[in-house]
Amino acid sequence: MEAQNTPKQRIFSGIQPTGNLTLGNYIGALRNFGVLQNEYDCLYSIVDMHAITVRQEPSELRKACLRTMAIFLASGLDPEKNIIYFQSQVPQHAELGWILDCFTYMGELSRMTQFKDKSAKHADNINAGLFTYPVLMAADILLYMTNLVPIGADQKQHLELARDIALRFNAVYGDVFNVPEGYFPKVGARIMSLQDPTRKMSKSDPEECYIAILDKPEIIRKKLRRAVTDSDNSVVFDPENKPGIANLMSIMYALSDKSMDEITADYDGKGYGVFKDAVADCVISALEPIQKEYDRISADKAYLEQVMISGRERAEQIAWKTMLKVRKKVGLAALKL
Ligand code: AMP
Ligand code: TRP
Repeated sequence: MEAQNTPKQRIFSGIQPTGNLTLGNYIGALRNFGVLQNEYDCLYSIVDMHAITVRQEPSELRKACLRTMAIFLASGLDPEKNIIYFQSQVPQHAELGWILDCFTYMGELSRMTQFKDKSAKHADNINAGLFTYPVLMAADILLYMTNLVPIGADQKQHLELARDIALRFNAVYGDVFNVPEGYFPKVGARIMSLQDPTRKMSKSDPEECYIAILDKPEIIRKKLRRAVTDSDNSVVFDPENKPGIANLMSIMYALSDKSMDEITADYDGKGYGVFKDAVADCVISALEPIQKEYDRISADKAYLEQVMISGRERAEQIAWKTMLKVRKKVGLAALKL
């Protein structure tokens, strides 16, 4: 009886609306969002304010935001069960971000590997936003009293920082924030680049390195056929010595119900061409239904707009409650509404 009244645990996750969402985003994040929606109270945000830490073409960014929302919906996220919204439309993210900046140390931020990578990539624009990006991410999470954060392995360091900030804030002001836990996929937490399987598959790399969720079947097949592998022709899972094959096996494992041993039994000795085509079949059949839904949903602008407005309203209600508490705790001037 009691259990029925226990509020559901809350989940928050965000995806940047830049470039094309990849198979890595799908396996590492999106696919799991759909699985969680029945058991948890979930918010999924298109984090456009994070995206502007690197230069974006404004009209392209706006389109990419809507495209990302349509992909969320097409991959099965129900906008009634989940709060799906754009980060920039809930100004409390920026407000809490600033307050948390004052509880974060320069030393902590300089250790962030994503900052180091991005500042090497964008050496002409190492702006303060790029540096404080993880604090905005902490604000995203803490604003909603989040319990669980489903993310790929690359975001683990940022989540640790969010936890440290929450604990630090709570140590000063009492129990204000929930201290969130990470939720990592059992398989596919790190899908690797097709051209350099020692690096993660990333939408900011050249086209041939990743499979986009919206790539057409013939493109998917072509990219997989050209994926970098070794030349010993054995399909066994050995990420250290055979990172290319291990990555393709992980993709197949994540998208089929075969175990690694079964994959080896089915394809070892048959040649990489046959194996790569089989991986392509798996990827194509996983993505095709999403692409069909995407075409339908993205043509329905009124529906997208309605999801956007309702998501913003519902997110802001929760965010505002947290901010009233935080503002009071910190001692900011009281708002008379
Ligand atoms: P991003 O594209 O950086 O906004 O990432 C959005 C989500 O997808 C985060 O939870 C990432 O950890 C996850 N993700 C991104 N790339 C990969 C990848 N190659 N493998 C697994 N998960 C990924
Ligand atoms: N930083 C994440 C990434 O690059 C995206 C993100 C922003 C996020 N805010 C978040 C993920 C909050 C989880 C929770 O992938």
